[in-house]
Amino acid sequence: MSTAVILGVQWGDEGKGKLVDYLTEHAHVVARFQGGHNAGHTVVINDTQYILHLVPSGILHGGTLSVIGGGTVIDPRSLIVEMDELATKGIEVSRENLVISKGAHLIMPYHMAIEAAEEKLLGSGLIGTTLKGIGPAYTDKMARVGLKVADLMLPEVFREKLAAVLTRKNLLLEKIYNKPGFDLDAVYDEFMGYARRLAPHVTDTEVLVNQAIDEGKNVLFEGAQGTLLDIDHGTYPFVTSSSASAGGICTGLGVGPNRIDNLTGVVKAYTTRVGSGPFPTELDSPLGAHLQERGGEFGATTGRPRRCGWLDMVALRYTAMINGLTGIAITKLDVLDEMEEIKVCTHYLVDGKKVEHFPKEATVVASCVPQYESFPGWRSNTRGATEFEALPEAARNYLKGVERLLGVPIEMISTGPKREELILISKPFQ
Ligand code: GDP
Ligand code: IMO
Ligand code: MG
Repeated sequence: MSTAVILGVQWGDEGKGKLVDYLTEHAHVVARFQGGHNAGHTVVINDTQYILHLVPSGILHGGTLSVIGGGTVIDPRSLIVEMDELATKGIEVSRENLVISKGAHLIMPYHMAIEAAEEKLLGSGLIGTTLKGIGPAYTDKMARVGLKVADLMLPEVFREKLAAVLTRKNLLLEKIYNKPGFDLDAVYDEFMGYARRLAPHVTDTEVLVNQAIDEGKNVLFEGAQGTLLDIDHGTYPFVTSSSASAGGICTGLGVGPNRIDNLTGVVKAYTTRVGSGPFPTELDSPLGAHLQERGGEFGATTGRPRRCGWLDMVALRYTAMINGLTGIAITKLDVLDEMEEIKVCTHYLVDGKKVEHFPKEATVVASCVPQYESFPGWRSNTRGATEFEALPEAARNYLKGVERLLGVPIEMISTGPKREELILISKPFQ
């Protein structure tokens, strides 16, 4: 019995949801530690597609406890919509299968209004956020003016804190952004409705998660976004506002680093990115369009087209290091099935000089010229393969090449969106 982690190690949308769902069969607890409903994690079971935003992807397995940890930010309205949508698909969400940390911060209506105004002011320099209020909610957390789930459970405390913060937010909205402010009573009443609905789920999740580990249960930590979008380690400022890398597990759930056993980085067999920011291996060509179309690369949260490009080992070596990855899961191998040639970036040239380490400055990343190693394509069907040996030789060579260039073993290979379309090489849970 052990703990395992599923982390995105590119710019998000690597296929984390599918893998979390797959591994949940062996897990007692599945916990989200950061981010909010900016995430869109897709799981396909039989012919039904589920897109999870804040609710952990483990919810689709009966008998598992899903945890929304203290490091997340919660828009209660959107969370309730998500819970209701799951119910319409036959997944009942109750206190038995979903708990919410008292420590998580709330995304308030003014966060979304401020974000929309800020992005508009940035003009062409915009971050291209999901406009879900994530950045402003984390900003308030750090500025120590945020409202927590714990506050929501105490009506008088909530009203007092809301009144204080709303005065300032309304000044900002009305005087700086020239937008309408919010009415205290209306926001308070709306949120008290959410409080009644969510109250049964709210608890000290830190205690629950640590107890589960103490009892020898299998606990799965579900990352959202990806390390290249991490607030500290990503391509700042074109990042999200949370710790999407391994460090976020400890702060976001209140578990010690010594309790993390296995760290699996999810790597899409090529690269995608939504929103602005540098992307050295981006293909602004028919090949990129082919990947986008065949991979169905449109955002699970915003529907925006995802930018597509080749796999980037400079970026992956960096994210493997930042997270201390013990293994990787390669997803969407089948999307490469029709390619004649597949390229993998091994290093960059910056001002004509060889660069093997991912630069810290987004401006330098933007100026990198990727240098590639080429692999022959297999031009045959890998969709749904469940055995490594059943893959075409060229596909096996490609995978071995990735493993060699990264120096981290492959644990799983995903060959389609469905739960069972997967090759298991080694089990993340001991
Ligand atoms: P996440 O945010 O990391 O959970 O990933 P998303 O759900 O945003 O995007 C991954 C997309 O790829 C979803 O539409 C999945 O259904 C799909 N997907 C996942 N694994 C595979 C795979 O191995 N092959 C194919 N063709 N699609 C996959
Ligand atoms: P999952 O968990 C891909 C991107 C946005 C934008 C930047 C900041 O599904 O992999 P934010 O709204 O978080 O402030 O936006 O981060 N982004 C994601 N891209 N997958 C995600 O989540 C993302 N969550 C945020 O597109 O560029
Ligand atoms: Mg996604």
